[in-house]
Amino acid sequence: MPAHLVVLAAGRGTRMNSDLPKVLHEIGQAPLFVHALSAGDSLGPGRRVLVVGHGAELVRAAARAHDPDIAIAEQAEQRGTAHAVAQSRAALKGAAGDVFVLYGDTPFIRPETLKRMAAARAAGAGVVVLGFEAADPGRYGRLVMEGGALARIVEYKDATEAERAIALCNSGVICADAVQIFDLIDSVGTKNASGEYYLTDIVAVARARGLVCTAVTCDEAETLGVNSRVELARAEALFQARRRAASLADGVTLIAPETVVFAMDTVIGRDAVVEPNVVFGPGVTVESGARIRAFSHLEGCHVGRGAVIGPYARLRPGAEIGNHAKVGNFVEIKAAEIGEGAKVNHLTYIGDATVGEAANIGAGTVTCNYDGVFKHHTEIGARAFVGSSTMLVAPVRIGAEAMTASGSVVTADVPDGALALGRARQVNKDGLARRIMDRLRAAKRKRAN
Ligand code: UD1
Ligand code: MG
Repeated sequence: MPAHLVVLAAGRGTRMNSDLPKVLHEIGQAPLFVHALSAGDSLGPGRRVLVVGHGAELVRAAARAHDPDIAIAEQAEQRGTAHAVAQSRAALKGAAGDVFVLYGDTPFIRPETLKRMAAARAAGAGVVVLGFEAADPGRYGRLVMEGGALARIVEYKDATEAERAIALCNSGVICADAVQIFDLIDSVGTKNASGEYYLTDIVAVARARGLVCTAVTCDEAETLGVNSRVELARAEALFQARRRAASLADGVTLIAPETVVFAMDTVIGRDAVVEPNVVFGPGVTVESGARIRAFSHLEGCHVGRGAVIGPYARLRPGAEIGNHAKVGNFVEIKAAEIGEGAKVNHLTYIGDATVGEAANIGAGTVTCNYDGVFKHHTEIGARAFVGSSTMLVAPVRIGAEAMTASGSVVTADVPDGALALGRARQVNKDGLARRIMDRLRAAKRKRAN
């Protein structure tokens, strides 16, 4: 049966104490709602609807940036979770199959769990709810079971003492038929402690109509929601712990795993080594056998097989590091291709450039790529040797196997195999250093007296 996805992301998230809508806060450097969507994506959903409300414009823009095809429904006023789902009615019109409702602030639901819910639906349950045994049930909704079936869900605020003693809690994830769910929601009212339309009430409504409802349970860690900065930090820690464990299982060596920071989409090949204190921003792929040395920061880049990066290197978006290339300490690379086996080892900025294979870039080299308005390209040919402290004033081309003399300011193209000297000729004045020092020391003595 096809599945569809509704992710609720309209809530205010008051406890975040932030100008940013809650679901735009990030873990693994991706917004919370993206984590919920990607959990749902494991179902291969036919339609995906994000219900936005608080900070709608910002959330809409972020959702579009993530996926231009996602349907967006707006809940202008937050009148409860059932009311939020009701806003997706138009987007799901004519959709056959199941619908899964996920919360945009609950990032860790596992694909296996959603599959078990789908199986429970396929086995005949009218509504399937994801529950968990809470160590501290707190203010969660409680699942009231009767004879192995789910009878109803009672919100904490509306629960009796006996109901509050139930440890089986509602995670919020619900699965039902994509057409029937709207009929059920139509029968939900607002007679409760919050005066809201509770999605959880569809269970009792379904049961009254003779449908059997079931609970599928999962580990509490999976249902961890984010409502405050403390919970956000806890979620980040959990995300990083999982991500590190996954990398180790994939055959990556992490010398000090707890000091490596991953992004949601980081990809690292087998037998790569990541030294301590490395940060991966979004969009990084590291091939097999590469080594990322300590204190490096990478984002939006690709590191080829056997390449060595760092220590203290910064790879910015568009850095394409060839196989077995070396990028050393205090080197920054942006929107540049570094050819196979090329070396950029010390104190250098390479931006908007192409560096040919086996080229050697001396310490302190700078591609002067920006004139204050436009960015310009620098091309460095294969096996070229750029002397230390060369300023490459772009646009400029250094030919294959060409050289530049140390300290040159290169403003014109250098032909293949040529040597460019772009600096003042050196002049030596015999004895002048000593004479100057003698004069200065004499002046100092005079002042002291
Ligand atoms: C909800 C459940 C509760 C469950 C808990 C798990 C209901 C009535 N209660 O309670 O049983 O134990 O989650 O965390 O569903 N939202 C909207 N529009 C609204 C209201 C909420 O989009 O009008 C979204 C929120 O942004 C959030 C989600 O729905 O992503 C849950 O809302 P929240 O207010 O946190 O519900 P809880 O009171 O925590
Ligand atoms: Mg909540």
